[in-house]
Amino acid sequence: MPVTSLNRRAACLSLLGGMAALAVPFRSDADARFDERIKVFRLDGDGVTYAFGIDSVGQIQALHWGGSLAVDDPLPAAPNPSDFSGFDRANSVTPLEYVAFGGGLVTEPSLKVAFPDGGRDLVLRYAGHEMTAEGIRVRLKDISAEVHVELTYGMDKATGMLSRSARVYNRTRRPLRIDQMAAATLNLPFADDYELHYLTGRWAGEWTVQKRPLEAGSTVLESRLGMTGSQNNPWFAVGRKDVSEEENGPVWFGALAWSGSWRMVFEKDILGQSRITAGYNPFDFAYLLKPGESLETPVFYAGYSPDGMGGASRRMHRFQRTVILPGAPAPKLRPVLYNSWEATEFAVTEQGQVALAEKAATLGVERFVMDDGWFGKRNNDRAGLGDWTVNREKFPQGLTPLIRRVRELGMEFGLWVEPEMVNPDSDLYRAHPDWVINFKGRPRSEGRNQMVLNLARKEVCDYIIKSLDLLLSENDIAFLKWDHNRSWSEPGWPERPVAEQQRLYVDYTRNLYAILAEIRRRHPRVEIESCAGGGGRVDLGIMRFSDQVWPTDNTDPFDRLKMRDGFSQAYMPGVMMAWVTASPNWVNKRSTSLEYRFLSAMQGCLGIGDNLNHWTPDEFATAKRLIAEYKAMRATVQRGDLYRLISPQDNSPRSATLSVSGTRRQAVLFAFLHSSSKFETAPRIQLRGLEPQTRYAVRAIAGTVADDTPKVASGAYWMNHGVKLPLRGDFQAAACVFDAV
Ligand code: DGJ
Repeated sequence: MPVTSLNRRAACLSLLGGMAALAVPFRSDADARFDERIKVFRLDGDGVTYAFGIDSVGQIQALHWGGSLAVDDPLPAAPNPSDFSGFDRANSVTPLEYVAFGGGLVTEPSLKVAFPDGGRDLVLRYAGHEMTAEGIRVRLKDISAEVHVELTYGMDKATGMLSRSARVYNRTRRPLRIDQMAAATLNLPFADDYELHYLTGRWAGEWTVQKRPLEAGSTVLESRLGMTGSQNNPWFAVGRKDVSEEENGPVWFGALAWSGSWRMVFEKDILGQSRITAGYNPFDFAYLLKPGESLETPVFYAGYSPDGMGGASRRMHRFQRTVILPGAPAPKLRPVLYNSWEATEFAVTEQGQVALAEKAATLGVERFVMDDGWFGKRNNDRAGLGDWTVNREKFPQGLTPLIRRVRELGMEFGLWVEPEMVNPDSDLYRAHPDWVINFKGRPRSEGRNQMVLNLARKEVCDYIIKSLDLLLSENDIAFLKWDHNRSWSEPGWPERPVAEQQRLYVDYTRNLYAILAEIRRRHPRVEIESCAGGGGRVDLGIMRFSDQVWPTDNTDPFDRLKMRDGFSQAYMPGVMMAWVTASPNWVNKRSTSLEYRFLSAMQGCLGIGDNLNHWTPDEFATAKRLIAEYKAMRATVQRGDLYRLISPQDNSPRSATLSVSGTRRQAVLFAFLHSSSKFETAPRIQLRGLEPQTRYAVRAIAGTVADDTPKVASGAYWMNHGVKLPLRGDFQAAACVFDAV
């Protein structure tokens, strides 16, 4: 069964039964082995080997994570663990795969529990294993208590991406409180020059690439927001300083598939060994396991590339496309869409939307999306959320006439929703004030005038499914933009017994996945975009149910170059929506040409978000031409291999990206100049990833190539000699397509 359909089925079960697998089942073709003589496990896939072994006391030790080894290479058995000193016992200085708080552990635990008698000592030892269709399952058990842990390992053969997760079982007769639980601990090979790359941000300023050395002590990346967040994204890459570059050198990388509060801890211990532990955020966390119950973690995916940061992100992109996305292994190409938000904000009307749709259709737009403002008493952000019925003042006959017109114009229809939220000024809140996350008798903080519905509650899930199901059954809707415009506050669930209230951190997100899965099951044609006031919910967990994501509300085409660079470190351009909007842009008041705005957006999934009523005939002509060009090469941009040729970071005046199709028959080059100064000469740009012997014809689709550029040359020529795009002026852009002849 394909991976994604298993996911969806698991998620539905969760909603019905309350408990189900969070882990993504791995591919059944995993290359997994166990060497009984030396008690060593290994997984192999696409040039990567991951190995671990059982040591003399039954701990599971990491042995190798990196480039692939020959099948018969002699891996060492896990060494005997030994204390370093009276201060640092063996479990704190041994590279363990999964370590519980107990036995004097002073480093980051993968698991920490509390027994009803106050005891918190948990010491896990090997208790058996199974080689499964999906990889390896290792069973651990406490030295005396009936607390069992299962570690699940898989490796996607085609991309070498490792999947790790854990499940803890309470087989004691008393309740057990889980205070901290990670999906996995990953140990890096020993080196003292590691540099951590990660992503930070805020609303309208997401996807900033950060770097810092991994020094003695800990570095924490996390979200305490109840959602993925943009302050940190649950992704990392680790290279070696001055060794790992954009296209060279070893890079270890990974991402946690979880859309709730999460945490990644990077530790360099007293012996200089580095490890990464990722899972549920222990901040305000507690999960009570009754006798017989279990708790599963999200999946921590990890990879290795010898080809620098570029190689690492290409692997991640390929993995998302072939395993994670709902359409995997061959997700549909993203249609060119129009979105009404920046044009009308809340002032949507049938007549106004029809006028925009008619204009959008002439450009070649394929999907018309009506954003916020169409439902309840929604004239601003102070009312209406929760009431998912059409506003009859704005749409007297419902959505049907608008949708019919959009369909006649040859486009699909999409709609904005924000199902997890409620405004206090709504019929839903008036009827069910207890449905929001809250602490009894305490103020309920609002964010954007709204509160968060408690998705951990079954009646709330039922309401959301029912409202959306009705909307999608009664209307010909092909697409939902699923928004989420605030983080949590007062994270209480007063209806549950006190000891169980903090399950919210797990149950909310698990039920969100189940709702998305159920909507997709009932309406298999409907596609979904994950949006959280911009890029606040982009992660491998939500991507299993989302065909595309909205990376940021910042639509300034120059800012977007850097954000796209950051986004692409972790996520594929083929899910990243990018709209062409008005100039001057509302964020920076920066003016740019329509062509520049298009070229910036065409590096992802193209959309138009401007008010078309203000466009001139010339602008219509430019847009129509560039949309046609985009359609002809979007498969390469959305699904191809991305090479970040010139980085826009560090105030670089120039940047360039290249996308090369899987067949290497086409490549698309985009180049941007912030501003010219001092008569600088444009550099020649050397391409990558082409077939050296194949001949490629070059064609500029915007801007020009230098006069001395040949019309046709070999891949070797374009890669070794290069092409010059003579940009001059401020905010200039050019793009060309290389087609094999
Ligand atoms: C935040 C989103 O990011 C915007 O694109 C828009 O949909 C607004 N919400 C609507 O309220």
